[in-house]
Amino acid sequence: MESVLHEARKFPPPSSFSANAHIKSFDQYDQMYRESIDNPEKFWAEKAADLHWFKKWSRVLEWSLPDAKWFVGGQTNLCYNCVDRQVKDGFGDKTAIVWEGEPIDDGQPEVRRLTYQDLQREVCKFANVLKNLGVKKGDVVTLYMPMVPELAIAMLACARIGAPHSIIFGGFSASAIRDRVADADSKIIITADAGWRRGKHIPLKNTVDEALQNNDTQATKQTVKNVVVLKRCGNDIDMIDDRNHWWHDLMAQVPEACPCEEMDAEDLLFILYTSGTTGKPKGIMHTTGGYMVYTYLTSRYVFALHDDDPDELYWCTADIGWITGHSYIIYGILPNRVPTLMFEGAPNFPGPDRLWDIVSRHKVTKFYTAPTAIRAFMKWGDEHPKKHDLSSLKVLGTVGEPINPEAWVWYNKVIGSEKCPIVDTWWQTETGGHMITPLPGATTTVPGSCTLPFFGIDPAIVDKNGNEQPANTGGFLVIRKPWPSMLRGIYGDRERFIKTYWSEIEGCYFAGDGARIDADGNFWVMGRVDDVINVSGHRLGTAEVESALVSHTQVAEAAVVGVPHEIKGTGIAAFVTLKGTATPTPQLKDELIAHVAKEIGAIAKPDQIRFTDSLPKTRSGKIMRRLLREVATGKEIKGDTTTLEDYSVLAKLRDDA
Ligand code: WT7
Repeated sequence: MESVLHEARKFPPPSSFSANAHIKSFDQYDQMYRESIDNPEKFWAEKAADLHWFKKWSRVLEWSLPDAKWFVGGQTNLCYNCVDRQVKDGFGDKTAIVWEGEPIDDGQPEVRRLTYQDLQREVCKFANVLKNLGVKKGDVVTLYMPMVPELAIAMLACARIGAPHSIIFGGFSASAIRDRVADADSKIIITADAGWRRGKHIPLKNTVDEALQNNDTQATKQTVKNVVVLKRCGNDIDMIDDRNHWWHDLMAQVPEACPCEEMDAEDLLFILYTSGTTGKPKGIMHTTGGYMVYTYLTSRYVFALHDDDPDELYWCTADIGWITGHSYIIYGILPNRVPTLMFEGAPNFPGPDRLWDIVSRHKVTKFYTAPTAIRAFMKWGDEHPKKHDLSSLKVLGTVGEPINPEAWVWYNKVIGSEKCPIVDTWWQTETGGHMITPLPGATTTVPGSCTLPFFGIDPAIVDKNGNEQPANTGGFLVIRKPWPSMLRGIYGDRERFIKTYWSEIEGCYFAGDGARIDADGNFWVMGRVDDVINVSGHRLGTAEVESALVSHTQVAEAAVVGVPHEIKGTGIAAFVTLKGTATPTPQLKDELIAHVAKEIGAIAKPDQIRFTDSLPKTRSGKIMRRLLREVATGKEIKGDTTTLEDYSVLAKLRDDA
């Protein structure tokens, strides 16, 4: 990879901020960082002591690559640390969750505030509901829900009784649910009649029904015994099947107390499916103790959370269905005893200023969103944020993909009035928490760079032989030491776990990203180096989209590549060859796009479909993706867009070269 030099503007931490920050200076960061790397066990033992343990660990870390065990022998419960502990310490009346619904009736949105006491009561009740339905420690509970407080309640209830949850983002399709439920052998699904999105109902329960319909025809070990349905929109749904239960009926029948299961630090906390380089998503496993300590500490330092500030209100705009929501709406935030805001709807409903309206009405102090959203806000126009008082904001965060410096600068100026440190946090579903990120008040920020590693994280840029690269030279981003919230495996697939993360570069965790380090030591993540694409901060496998396309009756072969997209960061271009009698028409393109949405979910819809009579391949039969990417990013092909494209000559030329 060639060297890239970049001169960027630097933003030192504002001194007004540093005075009150947990980490007050670069020197303090630097010293703590060294300690955390030189003596990780001491560092993490001290930090873990901030949280409640039923039984203290006997060893902080046992590491035998690729298996890490953190806080070995320790017993705790993450729900206890999120909820019960706050009540026990006298903060039962403090707000835990502020929720705002999407619809605005009579000019007023619906707002619900749950105190820690409220949350404890609801979580205990739902934990009892789960127990009554036969859920035991270790049983996987699938959640397919809208962004309502009951989603937080259900996940915390799972953590309380030691039942790992598998949360499926509400935008995924019936077949995505079917695959994930089967892979996790999950016997229960928690869902809702529907959820609100841009003024419309997303019919979640119908999609669950569709997923379960094919029970007999699927070659899966589908064994769902119970479906619990929350009434959110009042949708007309089918509850005939005797495995269906209304949430409110079950909740009316249970006591308000439920003890927390004493979980071993390494007991499974949740599975979260994410896309990889094959068609099959992988169930990333996170365990209890290390994940708890790491998400707690990153939340505290990266967002500079202060539980003693009565005005503190943290808001992450992600959906809980993604890792960002797991770690930085619920699990990392609540143990910090600060309120977390949940918003149900779309950022542009009813108007493009909805988020700024929320920030100003609730006086949000810490705000965390994605570059794709920032680019959309830029496009919608400055007048929308400018209509609202955003002066409560103190820290702005971004996550999901590299942020282009233009978007960073806009975010800093228009949203942050140049007084809020911007934390560009690089991490992954697999890493559980922030890995490379600025610390507000302590470290200098640079537009486009996620800057420096968090405590205990030892990243490096290497070539394929594992040799460290000099400054400003691109290479593979790897992590050389275990960290508390690292994935513990892929559910049911040990081999894939080893092959994907631990085999590319010897002795290191392979992240799948390309990056470089500049002369100041700042990291610049360039993007994925595998067949994974990052569409609007959501990860998709090209193989996944390809297999959705070839499942259409008229498609013979498909190849998918990522192409630059103004808002999404990366868009999807699909090259398709049709079966014998099929004709390439604009209608068929639309049909294929709809087919992918049905197979995976709307986020996977191709932006371009190009019909071709053959795909360019090397002699060994490998599709030449680089060539397709060039074609897809090149000028629009003139004339009838349905004309077949012919790569045969080009492909052969390349192959011979
Ligand atoms: C991939 C992980 C972590 C939650 C959101 C996505 C990309 C993520 C950044 C960032 C550059 C980033 C990487 C990574 N990514 N954050 N700040 N700068 N790239 O989680 O679905 O597991 O995807 O997102 O490519 O590998 P995910």
